[in-house]
Amino acid sequence: MKALILVGGFGTRLRPLTLTLPKPLVEFANKPMIYHQVKALAAAGVTDIVLAVNYRPEIMTEALQKYEKEFNVRIEFSVETEPLGTAGPLKLAEKILGKDDTPFFVLNSDVICEYPFNELAEFHRQHGQEGTIIVTKVEEPSKYGVIVHKHDHPSRIDRFVEKPIEFVGNRINAGIYIFNPSVLKRIELRPTSIEQETFPAICKDGQLHSFDLEGFWMDVGQPKDFLAGTCLYLSSLTKKNSKELTPVSEPFVYGGNVLMDPSAKVGKNCRIGPNVTIGPNVVIGDGVRLQRCVLLSGSKVKDHAWVKSTIVGWNSSVGRWARLENVTVLGDDVAIGDEVYVNGGSILPHKTIKQNVDVPAIIM
Ligand code: GDD
Ligand code: MG
Repeated sequence: MKALILVGGFGTRLRPLTLTLPKPLVEFANKPMIYHQVKALAAAGVTDIVLAVNYRPEIMTEALQKYEKEFNVRIEFSVETEPLGTAGPLKLAEKILGKDDTPFFVLNSDVICEYPFNELAEFHRQHGQEGTIIVTKVEEPSKYGVIVHKHDHPSRIDRFVEKPIEFVGNRINAGIYIFNPSVLKRIELRPTSIEQETFPAICKDGQLHSFDLEGFWMDVGQPKDFLAGTCLYLSSLTKKNSKELTPVSEPFVYGGNVLMDPSAKVGKNCRIGPNVTIGPNVVIGDGVRLQRCVLLSGSKVKDHAWVKSTIVGWNSSVGRWARLENVTVLGDDVAIGDEVYVNGGSILPHKTIKQNVDVPAIIM
């Protein structure tokens, strides 16, 4: 089977992390976001994956080459010279996606869930029409594409409204699709949006269906949702009794849902959890309290620091008795001084912070 992952765009909403790495390479649960998707696609029998890239392609190529071997798949880079939006990249990859008449998957690169590719393909095959999109329910639908059904059919989509201003429903596009190659005939090679142009056109012909997602889902393309998605993902690992999680018998684990790279070091009398991921080579001092946070590789949290709802970027350090909370994000190589308080700060790479950040702010 074939798949295309949309990995373009500048990931501006995930700054300052995306100032250092393209969004798909930012580690979610200690692995680049895109790793989770390639792994799930390979497990579902996909052998040809197209990565639709327009931003820093060279760094993506390097990272992805290893996955070809690891998952025994072919990964082809389809590089746009100008951003082609969310539909144009499908046309650009027509040679691969349309090489035979079997359907292909399309994924947004920032969505996390249990990826039910096999079930989706089976459902799509059964209704026999042009496209199927995975849908999920959310409380705040205005940030997403919303789908509307008529009462006469359980899965045929009547209308697709991207980022509605007025409430039209709470079932949204989860950013995972399967299409018959015939959809490529509808798309022109130019910057064009699948949500604004292609979906409404397929709906009009009554050829677009929805497939309800079971379990958790999150678009982790912004810090608040990245943290929320981390909690959901870790909870799903706990539910599955995953061996990847740090055992709750470890004296520092508090409330479970802790995922720690084996190379990380933890000091004495720490309380860590629930919902914490700790990347490779992280060093945590003594008496540290961590909850609902993500520590990326090489970062350091010094003695007695208190960190909650925070992403600590690569190689950053948090000073002794410092307190970070309220969706604080430290970019690469940030230093937070001893006893400093940061409330919802977004700190750009390589900064040293010696003064408190009392109200949410971007510090550059
Ligand atoms: N190749 C390429 N070229 N990819 C692009 C481009 C481009 O010009 N622009 C955006 N992308 C990729 C992004 O990297 C991302 O993987 C995907 O397209 C969607 O872009 P986002 O910027 O993340 O869109 P969104 O989150 O606002 O909304 C989309 O996702 C929601 C679900 O998370 C829409 O598809 C919504 O309908 C959907 O509900
Ligand atoms: Mg998104």
